[in-house]
Amino acid sequence: MSAQIINGKEIVSAYRADIKQQVEQLKQQGVQPGLAVVIVGDDPASHVYVRNKAKACEEAGMHSEVYKLPENTPEADVLALISKLNGDEAIHGILVQSPLPGHISEERVVEAIAIEKDVDCFHPVNVGNLMIGKEGPAPCTPAGVIEILKKVGVEIAGKHAVVIGRSNIVGKPMAILLLRENATVTVCHSRTKNMEQITRQADILIAAVGKAKMINRSHIKPGAVVVDVGINRLDTGKLAGDVDFDDVLETASYVTPVPGCVGPMTITILLRNTLEAAQRAAS
Ligand code: GUN
Repeated sequence: MSAQIINGKEIVSAYRADIKQQVEQLKQQGVQPGLAVVIVGDDPASHVYVRNKAKACEEAGMHSEVYKLPENTPEADVLALISKLNGDEAIHGILVQSPLPGHISEERVVEAIAIEKDVDCFHPVNVGNLMIGKEGPAPCTPAGVIEILKKVGVEIAGKHAVVIGRSNIVGKPMAILLLRENATVTVCHSRTKNMEQITRQADILIAAVGKAKMINRSHIKPGAVVVDVGINRLDTGKLAGDVDFDDVLETASYVTPVPGCVGPMTITILLRNTLEAAQRAAS
């Protein structure tokens, strides 16, 4: 068997074209969706992500504002900026890029964002709503993974999905979203014993560990769908996922490439969340 490589570019461009059309419709009603992105400090990778988010926004016809603050910005200044953006009618989504410098509390910053503008779905109220299946934003990366599976035609209901990783941004919400799609879900993490035994039971395997090429053919069952959320920089400067892509090709039925699939889909869901926040504000 040879795995089908999921064509992220095709999925993303169709999805973004649809978003662009809905943005156009909303603009005709006098509302242009707007996203504010706040970045504190000089982390080069974060600056690249922020640039990509702002560019994607503009390409979709949305308004975007990027606030680049120096590393030594006091927490109070970040909170004051968020408060200003909360009250700004041109802004429907606010995203504060993490990680933040050590002297700033991520918790206080996230909790300062107005619930209806929390397009990351990091605010505890939105996380709670996600848990109980109430309407609201969905966390961008896990929601993007679900969309990829659906677009490819992978049936989720009744399947055993194994998530490797338990972060608040990916692993935990991923498990909840899979559960909402009626999968049977197992979460593995750094303290899991005999991980291979568990991952080999997965019909759908989601790798969100943050360790380059950690998942290989010994972790997967023949025919499994493998989704790679990891994005790791190798010593050579090249990017690699958590999955040893070449090694699993003969065993998996589908596999996502890194880069070029989950990353761009994450940004696409950010656009969707911003559009939906604007639609809710306009209604
Ligand atoms: N840093 C890495 N991923 C993310 C994300 O999805 N949102 C924010 N705000 N920061 C991140």
